[in-house]
Amino acid sequence: MPRTGRRTRGPEQAPEGAEPRGYDHRVSVPQPPEPIPGARLLFSLDPAVSHLNHGSFGAVPIGVQRAQQRLRDEMEANPLRFFTQGLVDRIAHTRRHLASFLGADPDGSALVGNTTTGVAVVLQSVGLQPGDEVLSTDHGYGAVSLAIQRECRRTGAVSRVLPIPLSATDEQIVQTIRAGLRPGRTRLLVVDQLTSATAKLFPVTAIARVAREHGVPVLVDAAHAPGMLSTPVASIGADFWVGNLHKWAYAPRGTALLTVAPQWRDRIEPLVVSWEQESDFPAPLEWQATLDYTSWLAAPAGLFTMRSLGVDLVRAHNAALAGYGQRVVGDALGVAPADLPSPGGPEVALRLIPLPPGTGTTIDAARALQTRIGERLAAEVAVMSWNGRGWLRLTGQVYNAADEYDRLAARLPALLAQR
Ligand SMILES: Cc1ncc(COP(=O)(O)O)c(C=O)c1O
Repeated sequence: MPRTGRRTRGPEQAPEGAEPRGYDHRVSVPQPPEPIPGARLLFSLDPAVSHLNHGSFGAVPIGVQRAQQRLRDEMEANPLRFFTQGLVDRIAHTRRHLASFLGADPDGSALVGNTTTGVAVVLQSVGLQPGDEVLSTDHGYGAVSLAIQRECRRTGAVSRVLPIPLSATDEQIVQTIRAGLRPGRTRLLVVDQLTSATAKLFPVTAIARVAREHGVPVLVDAAHAPGMLSTPVASIGADFWVGNLHKWAYAPRGTALLTVAPQWRDRIEPLVVSWEQESDFPAPLEWQATLDYTSWLAAPAGLFTMRSLGVDLVRAHNAALAGYGQRVVGDALGVAPADLPSPGGPEVALRLIPLPPGTGTTIDAARALQTRIGERLAAEVAVMSWNGRGWLRLTGQVYNAADEYDRLAARLPALLAQR
């Protein structure tokens, strides 16, 4: 849990190259949370690097890697037996375990490889027709926007994107979406539970309620939710919800859960037709022919890791550490606390810091800067470009320590000053 004391970064500590922009560096920075003892040792991460971007691809604890390897050993010892004797039941058992942890209906959920797949399944199942529209926001994930555009091209539907200011309150977001719905025409609303580019929590429960009142189905892209956010999936009331367990729930990569409201289950179409095509939901989605299903079967070991550390403790630690990182790095870049975007909720372990104007403003420039920070500062971070502005996105995880953010804060201004 966060310590209550405060630390002051005096002007003498302001790192070289920082541009104060009239901002007083003698601002108090909250103390970082107490480290969780031994947590770093659970991961095989390169110790020479600060891993401050858990959000993109997660990190799999060693115990989970081993659990998956044991399953692969079993599979390779007798592939025929592995695939034909009990695998479908093992997958169903795993799905029940993961769905229960997330507060989702186990029988209304299906394991899928990732959020991108889940989104594609929903888009091709809702029956888009010429003249229909898919409504989303300008905080949506890039690949999801591309999927919407492709499905619209294929079906003659149109994609409409609602702009939502970064500083919008929950009420303003709901109002904007309510005003943007066109009942009878909007065939699907796609919203993120926690956005990727802007690290902003959306009030998805209220949004789903408004959409229901207008008869518009909702897909919640919850890629970052499992493991980080405690909101039970069923309480959101979305028609479709899909979240990755391979980000914040320590599952092996390739593990996501798609939940589908009862009225849609017999209309859901898998991307690939398999021998289970004629079976009831979720078998056609879950059985996608010969694949390596060991990531799913090992995913409960990720939940075991979280539970061993303490689920609430992990959540509180990660959010507090990300908040600490946002403040120290923001301070080093001369960003006043009031100008640091608020994540919109206490559990969010992704934080944004605005980069100096003109830095990382395009996707290419953001990627190049991210690589440069990785190579020059031995720090893996996310650099995002959103609405013509560059943003640094930092995460907090149990394997991180406060001094990793301090080091980044000390060295980043000079790197940014070298154009
Ligand atoms: C909001 C959001 N949606 C979708 C995705 C895609 O996730 P995946 O690559 O696991 O399909 C991400 C990945 O970071 C994301 O942040």
